[in-house]
Amino acid sequence: MAAVAALPVSLSGRFKGSFAYFTIKDRLPQILTRVIDTLHRHKNEFFEEHGEKGVEAEKRAISFLSKLRNELQTDKPVTPLEDELPDAALWNQYLDYQRNLSNGSGEPSWFQSPWLFVECYMYRRIHAALAQNPPIDNFDVFKEGKAQNFFESQEAVITLCTHFQELLKNIKDLDEKQLQEEFFKLLQVSLWGNKCDLSFSAGEDSSQKSGPLQSLENMIPYILVNDMEKLWSILVNAKKRNTEKSNVRVDIILDNAGFELLSDLVLADFLLSSKLADEVHFHGKSIPWYVSDTTKHDFNWTIKQLQSANHMWMSRCGINWEGNLKKGVWVYHDHMFWTLPHDFSSMAEVAPDLYADLQKSNLLLFKGDLNYRKLTGDRKWEYSVPFHQALNKFHPAPLCSLRTLKSDTQVGLKPGQGEQIQASEPEWMLYL
Ligand code: F6P
Ligand code: MG
Repeated sequence: MAAVAALPVSLSGRFKGSFAYFTIKDRLPQILTRVIDTLHRHKNEFFEEHGEKGVEAEKRAISFLSKLRNELQTDKPVTPLEDELPDAALWNQYLDYQRNLSNGSGEPSWFQSPWLFVECYMYRRIHAALAQNPPIDNFDVFKEGKAQNFFESQEAVITLCTHFQELLKNIKDLDEKQLQEEFFKLLQVSLWGNKCDLSFSAGEDSSQKSGPLQSLENMIPYILVNDMEKLWSILVNAKKRNTEKSNVRVDIILDNAGFELLSDLVLADFLLSSKLADEVHFHGKSIPWYVSDTTKHDFNWTIKQLQSANHMWMSRCGINWEGNLKKGVWVYHDHMFWTLPHDFSSMAEVAPDLYADLQKSNLLLFKGDLNYRKLTGDRKWEYSVPFHQALNKFHPAPLCSLRTLKSDTQVGLKPGQGEQIQASEPEWMLYL
């Protein structure tokens, strides 16, 4: 009977000086303050649209959020959700689980509980502050920042759409080696697109300013674990095995809207146009999440923006992509599980329908840091622990994480590699 290796502790604000501590102490309150400011700034809009009821709802939401910020900053207990939203029971079960974990050493609280739990909980409380206050219950407090990221990345959007449409012109003449090279380029554009994220910049501008393709070469040394060759062989072998009836399916578990989403859509179109895949499934968030994360509205809004752009290649992309959705070769999902606090090792138990759906895929691409943290349980792993071990039995299908490091957890490094980076760049895991 192989002994089950004990899991390391969860990252938490109880570790002073950790990125978790810094995030909970400084950055989450900043994000809450920005949300409150956003609501203040939309007061007139709420009045115009909804009259006095809109203004009263705005006031109630602001008091919800100010109370939440105070609870956070004074390390109050994490309280059960009292809203009627469909996931409230799952959240409160998880809170009970956390209470039992702390086995009597006090109530779950912001600085004592696992970072992943309290950070997700904050975003769920932000959602409740709006959802419980009609008629502004459908207002996305992060919408402006996500739209701004898209507009301010316009140069990079044009460059990428143009590059891709040029590539499409002769994609049929490319041999396997050339196709692999293009795949690797677009994978890296999607990887580095993950740097554009507003929750990590606490809402500061994080749009893509530099050309997305020109800097790939000199970014190679910053790729700590590079499995691109393995990804290629998974796809090529799936293609070879592919019989008439079964499609090759790739799933992209999305992260941030804006430029990062654009880079994911281009990658998805490449997978179809190169015939490496027959269908691509996208997984977004069912509520506004971590400031930048993609909702169904953001997904559709981005495609509409491209279609109506006065740039030929942008509109061509937008038209093709709406066509893919209509034909069903692109499918958009937003399962509730992605905005629960659970790490992915509990998906099979908590969301068996989602787990079963992911098992139909030939390759799962998880974008971003939060997904990486949930894949590996947001724990203080040794750097050289194999990624497979850190997944802790989460294996619905072959999977890969395309993540820029934004939190102090990292696995899958070669022996000594983490220590070597630490020696040369002591703050490689901290953004102080
Ligand atoms: O606030 C920092 C942070 O919460 C990270 O720790 C978190 O994982 C990240 O923001 C979100 O990054 P991404 O959009 O890449 O998931
Ligand atoms: Mg994100």
